[in-house]
Amino acid sequence: MDEPVTLRRVEPSDVDRIFEWVVQPWYVNEFAGNAVPTPETHKAYFDAVFESGACFLAVLYGGAHVGCAGVKYIEGTHGEGWWYIGDDSMRGKGIGTALIAALAEYAEEELGLKSMHAYVLETNVGCRRALEKNGFSPTFGDFGEHKGVANVRYDLVFASRAGGAGSR
Ligand SMILES: CC(C)(COP(=O)(O)OP(=O)(O)OC[C@H]1O[C@@H](n2cnc3c(N)ncnc32)[C@H](O)[C@@H]1OP(=O)(O)O)[C@@H](O)C(=O)NCCC(=O)NCCS
Repeated sequence: MDEPVTLRRVEPSDVDRIFEWVVQPWYVNEFAGNAVPTPETHKAYFDAVFESGACFLAVLYGGAHVGCAGVKYIEGTHGEGWWYIGDDSMRGKGIGTALIAALAEYAEEELGLKSMHAYVLETNVGCRRALEKNGFSPTFGDFGEHKGVANVRYDLVFASRAGGAGSR
């Protein structure tokens, strides 16, 4: 990986690019697990994102927008992280590992959170490895399933991670 991975708030000019990603089978069948978006439902979704100020971020590799990430269900100082690399030619290069680190930093410094969790399909070896390299701990339990594959919950307390406020 030669370029830095950074995050910024999603912008209206990103919406058409994201549409190309969210209609792909990997997104519809494995990531979101719901209906294929139409241009109309996609636009309405992002109108709501911009209106609400939800934490929906663009993942940049160098200057290029290669994926998305965010934090949802924020309660107090805890939230649920999510992410994907939309441009599948950019996977397997370390960008996922770097974006998870960047999201934890963003959640701590920009959102004021102290901890975060994420759900991952048990079979998503790359994502699980990227989480574990970032210090997240797995819990195997009854966290639901998708097409017969169990979810694993991963948790991170930011103060405990390398570079986190509590470790400085
Ligand atoms: C999952 C995802 C975020 C991982 O990001 P990535 O940039 O591809 O992963 P990285 O290159 O950082 O790799 C992380 C680790 O997993 C390993 N890995 C990556 N893909 C793998 C695969 N398909 N099988 C086995 N190991 C894999 C890498 O070798 C690396 O481990 P290492 O450093 O010990 O060699 C990305 O592939 C993606 O967005 N996939 C589609 C959507 C998705 O699954 N989103 C996440 C849902 S929680």
